[in-house]
Amino acid sequence: MKRTNLLLSSILMIAILVSCNNKKLTEVVEVPLPTAQEKVSIGFPDDVKASQGSFQLEKLPYPYDALAPTVSPLTLQMHYSKHYLTYTNNLNSAIAGTEYENQSIEDILSHLDPNNADLRNNAGGYYNHSLYWKSMAPNAGGVPTDTLATAIKRDFGSYENFMAAFKGEATKQFGSAWVFLVVDKSKKLQVTSSQNQDNPLMKNAPILGTPILALDIWEHAYYLGYQYRRRTYIDSFFNVINWEKVGENYEAALRRKY
Ligand code: FE2
Repeated sequence: MKRTNLLLSSILMIAILVSCNNKKLTEVVEVPLPTAQEKVSIGFPDDVKASQGSFQLEKLPYPYDALAPTVSPLTLQMHYSKHYLTYTNNLNSAIAGTEYENQSIEDILSHLDPNNADLRNNAGGYYNHSLYWKSMAPNAGGVPTDTLATAIKRDFGSYENFMAAFKGEATKQFGSAWVFLVVDKSKKLQVTSSQNQDNPLMKNAPILGTPILALDIWEHAYYLGYQYRRRTYIDSFFNVINWEKVGENYEAALRRKY
């Protein structure tokens, strides 16, 4: 009898264990893997168009991911397709039906009334960003060449001195600002900066001149990639400076008449 009870107990225990195991199996929840369709798309610069008006976006001469890691793809996409587009559209609205409507951006900046905040901010924002895009290129950096290299040595003593002056000017800025390399009225190279969207072509600029290289140090230019590490962004900018284009800008600035 005892043997029969033991046998029945064993059968019952096995039945319970099998039942528990089956329950555990049915409770497993499958987590689906992300699909290719869920990848984030950052789009194409050429798809971004300004609304009707005198000015269209300066074409971005590389895709959004071309300047990584100095400028992250998302930073460049937001900067170009949102911030820059807004400045361009607002500039077109500000000059519509005014004396500025058919002027070049350089003439608008040189002649505008600094008390006209709408025009000042948006004309500056359009010009500064247009120059900033062209100041950079993928697989660039290095050092300037030809006549620009000679001029930098003449006016700063050496390329290293220029780099220290430019980085120093950028680092000491507080708040939203730009740093420029300019050709001043006497055709000398100088490093200068501006607050907000001001520009060395404006009559209120502390150093008047033609900008040939621009660095945007507004937070929107770097925060997604660097957070608070603005100095790292400033250092990294030197890895993407398009010295060939800056050299062309220098030659053009020498020919400019004030
Ligand atoms: Fe910007």
